[in-house]
Parts: sequence; C-alpha cells; structure tokens
Amino acid sequence: MARLLDPKKKDIKEDEEEVSLRPLTFEDYIGQEEMKNNLRIFIGAARKRNEVLDHVLVYGPPGLGKTTLAYVVAHEMGGNIRLVNGPSLEKPGDLAAILSTIQPGDILFIDEIHRIPRVVEEILYGAMEDFQLTLMIGKDEEARNISIDIAPFTLFGATTKPGDLSSPLRDRFGIVNRLNYYTEDELTKIVCRTSRVFNTPINADAAKLIAIRSRGTPRIANRIYRRVRDFASFSDLHNIDYDLTLTALKQLKIDSLGLDEIDSRYIHTLIKRFNGGPVGLETLASTIGEEVNNLEEVYEPYLLKLGLINKTPRGRVATEKAYSHYNIDLFSHD
Ligand code: ADE
Repeated sequence: MARLLDPKKKDIKEDEEEVSLRPLTFEDYIGQEEMKNNLRIFIGAARKRNEVLDHVLVYGPPGLGKTTLAYVVAHEMGGNIRLVNGPSLEKPGDLAAILSTIQPGDILFIDEIHRIPRVVEEILYGAMEDFQLTLMIGKDEEARNISIDIAPFTLFGATTKPGDLSSPLRDRFGIVNRLNYYTEDELTKIVCRTSRVFNTPINADAAKLIAIRSRGTPRIANRIYRRVRDFASFSDLHNIDYDLTLTALKQLKIDSLGLDEIDSRYIHTLIKRFNGGPVGLETLASTIGEEVNNLEEVYEPYLLKLGLINKTPRGRVATEKAYSHYNIDLFSHD
C-alpha cells in the first residue's frame, strides 16, 4: 500500500478522513475511463521493464481527483508518495531538500505546479530529465554548479491552469492527462462508496440527488454527503433518504443545478449591475467581494459548462439560460 512519507515542513498534511475516502486501485477509482486505461498500460509496461513511470501531468478544475489519482498511481507502482504544494516551494533549497531525500520509485506529487517560482522550476528540469540535482554555490567569480545524483522518481504534477506552465516544464512530462467532469452515474457510485466508508447507508434516489447537484465534482459530492449525514445524525436517523437530502440541500442553499450563493451572486451582479455584460472579471470580482482566482478557477468553469455565461474578449456575459434559470426578465433591468 502507498504510504504517506513523514510529513515535513513543506509537505501537505492530509486529513485522516480524506485519506480513508481515497480509493487506492484503478478498480476502485470511478470514472475517467480513457485515462485509467492508458495509465494501466504505462504502469504495466514500466513495471515489466523495472523502470520508474514517466512523469505525469494532470490538469482540470479543482476537486476532480488529481491527488486521488496520484495515490492510485503510487499504489499501483508499489511506491511511496510525497505530497507538496507548488507555492510552498519558495527557494531552490526547498525543492533540493525534498529531491535529495527521495527514494527510488517514489512519486513526488506537486499540487498547483503552475505556481512554483521560475528559479525553483529550473532545478526540476535536470531532476526530471537525468535524475540530477544541479545547484549553484558561491557568489560572483566563485560561483559554480555542483551536480548530485538523485534516485529515479516520478514527478506527478497537478494544475488547474495548464496554460500557466512554461513550455520547458510542460515538455518534460511524458504523460499528460486532462480530468473531465464526472457523469451523474459516476457521482452516484462515488456517493454510495462514501456512504459505505462512513457506515451510513443512503437510498439510491438520495445518492442520485446529491450527484445531480455536485457540479460533476467528487469533492463536492462527498462534501454534500457529509453535511446530509450530519442532518441524519442530528435527527437520530441511520439511513439517508430522499426527503432528508432535499431538506438538507435547501438548507445548504444548493439549487437544482448545484449552484450556490456565490454563483447566484455572480449571475445576479452580472445581470443587474452590468446589464448582462460584457464586464471584466476583476470588476465583477471586486463588486461581489470574491477573489479573482477563486471565481476563475472554481466557479466559472462550471458556469461555462452549464452555458450560463460566456467569456468574450471584452469580458463576461450572461446567456439567456442564466436569465431563465434565475427567473430574471431579459428586458427588465431593475
Ligand atoms: N473520490 C474522489 N474521486 C474519486 C473517484 N474518481 N473514484 C472513487 N472515489 C473518489
């Protein structure tokens, strides 16, 4: 089983509950079939040749299971996994400290890899290509490079913004995969699996209701399941049914498309303050009091997928579907 190596300063600390929810094999990992089939082949081939797996880059909206997939890959390769967050690697020494302690066959998972500084990124090039750690020591005329061999490893990079990766870094990944939103059926299976892990059964129609309102995202499905389970525990119910789930969703202000209060504020502001757009993201974000990154990486991808907004060169615009979903008259601007 893939073990989480000693959490050190730069490592991501994972919630125990989060870890127990993660599947460890491709068999238990639901959805993303095409990607799983490819990875199975690459892993099988690397194992047969007794080599480490080529470096893997996965990208896509948050919550679709990038970290989960890294655990599965580590487990299927029979290695350990080390988790770090891109922005926590501030100096070359931060990354060098990790790379110099890596063991043969380890998976180094770097989340938000698009956010590592360029000076740190440059250390990765040699590490990925030749398993060499090259560091500059000394200053001015005394400055020189030293190179140290490191263990063969697999870099598993995850990002929500692949376009922000420099091309030298992107080109060093041999395996590149996009994670897609999950279907209702897949999310229903994930909710049922979670209910088994948590030992609180859920009826099929209730699991499906959660799936429909989870924006195609397992993390959201699991979060909603946990909140609905709280409603059940509070009322001393040992089984989650449809009516309880519906009541909980209403209380959590999650609507029929899975949109929450922030989505609602986004669309209402776009329509009522800016006549439906176009309006720049920065202006919109400051008007609703949300961070630009949060809107761009978490909220907008799903609003775009649903066809409630469009991105144009002049800014964001609301579509007719946005007006009708929120019952706003297209011709009234009050
Ligand atoms: N939890 C999060 N993502 C999952 C997936 N794809 N399959 C099963 N459980 C998950």
